[in-house]
Amino acid sequence: MLKKILTGAAIAALAVGLGACSSTRPADGGGDAAGGSGDCNVGIAMPTRSLERWINDGEQLQKKLQDAGCTVDLQYADNKTDQQISQIQNQISGGAKILVIAAIDGSTLGPVLQEAKAQNATVIAYDRLINGSENVDYYATFDNYKVGTLQGQFIEEQLGLKDGKGPFNLEPFAGSPDDNNAKFFFAGAWDVLKPYVDKGQLVVPSGKSPANDDAWASIGIQGWASDKAQAEMDNRLSSFYGDGKKVNVVLSPNDSLAIGIEASLKSAGYTAGADYPIITGQDADKANVKAILEGLQAMTVWKDTRALGDRVFTMIQEIKDGKTVEVNDTKTYDNGKKVVPSYLLTPEVVVKDDVQSKLIDSGFLKASDVGL
Ligand code: BGC
Repeated sequence: MLKKILTGAAIAALAVGLGACSSTRPADGGGDAAGGSGDCNVGIAMPTRSLERWINDGEQLQKKLQDAGCTVDLQYADNKTDQQISQIQNQISGGAKILVIAAIDGSTLGPVLQEAKAQNATVIAYDRLINGSENVDYYATFDNYKVGTLQGQFIEEQLGLKDGKGPFNLEPFAGSPDDNNAKFFFAGAWDVLKPYVDKGQLVVPSGKSPANDDAWASIGIQGWASDKAQAEMDNRLSSFYGDGKKVNVVLSPNDSLAIGIEASLKSAGYTAGADYPIITGQDADKANVKAILEGLQAMTVWKDTRALGDRVFTMIQEIKDGKTVEVNDTKTYDNGKKVVPSYLLTPEVVVKDDVQSKLIDSGFLKASDVGL
């Protein structure tokens, strides 16, 4: 199991990078008093504005930090790695002492993080791990393997696989090959589902059934793009379902892929109802929550991004105040150079019946966002 493989490395005692935040430049507006913005110059680098969650993630954290008197530079990179690198470079030259980075391609940031290190900046990987660099101090995320487990178990329960039911036609998808999270999502789900594929209770008519967790990228959708997921589903439907065969279940790792897959199913004539396939998702994006309410998507794995923002805000305060940074996982996230001390939050399943109680009552979404 991937989790076991990734857990293998031993870890030394948690080294806490203290002192990384004492500012060397005057705070905006003068002075460098403790607690002033000179102590708390933060660069936030987010991947794209094209997905709702990243807009919320960035803006929430920016506001909290600004309210606490920090200087904040928030940037979005249009899913382009080069753009993200130059944004981070600008933040470093602007005096950032803390960098919060949701990487586009987690393997390309080594050189720019070297520059960050030279300036004694502390680096927090946000949601996605940054690979191949010593200079990643902390990682804050949701339990990514668990996200996949929840999707796999949902399918297992809905189809009665434990009771031996089947065969069902499954089409699995995976996330962007350059996103470290995507392999965790897939492994979590596949560790539940693959045994049923092996037993013949799940059949994959397209043949796009990875032989093991490590082969996940073969079904990855670059950039998590809805249109690419749609085109892939169109191909699978026209090539392997021409004889009246129906898809019973689609493993979709997140909501942006689910939207594309749902559009493809719609144009192939699938409508909500008893024969509509079970489709999984992640993020609780508005359009997908609407789809859940309309019976066009079965579930989403909700990650309350406000809680992630709060956690990173706490980390930043701890760093700024020279305190020990609280983490709860020092084993799982080996980035190839070190095991990055991590704080993992817990994701949860949302289905039609708990849209109101979990998403609306908590204020994550407004009723009007989802047509309620
Ligand atoms: C995030 C997901 C998101 C996906 C696409 C992943 O790294 O964890 O929440 O759906 O990227 O942006």
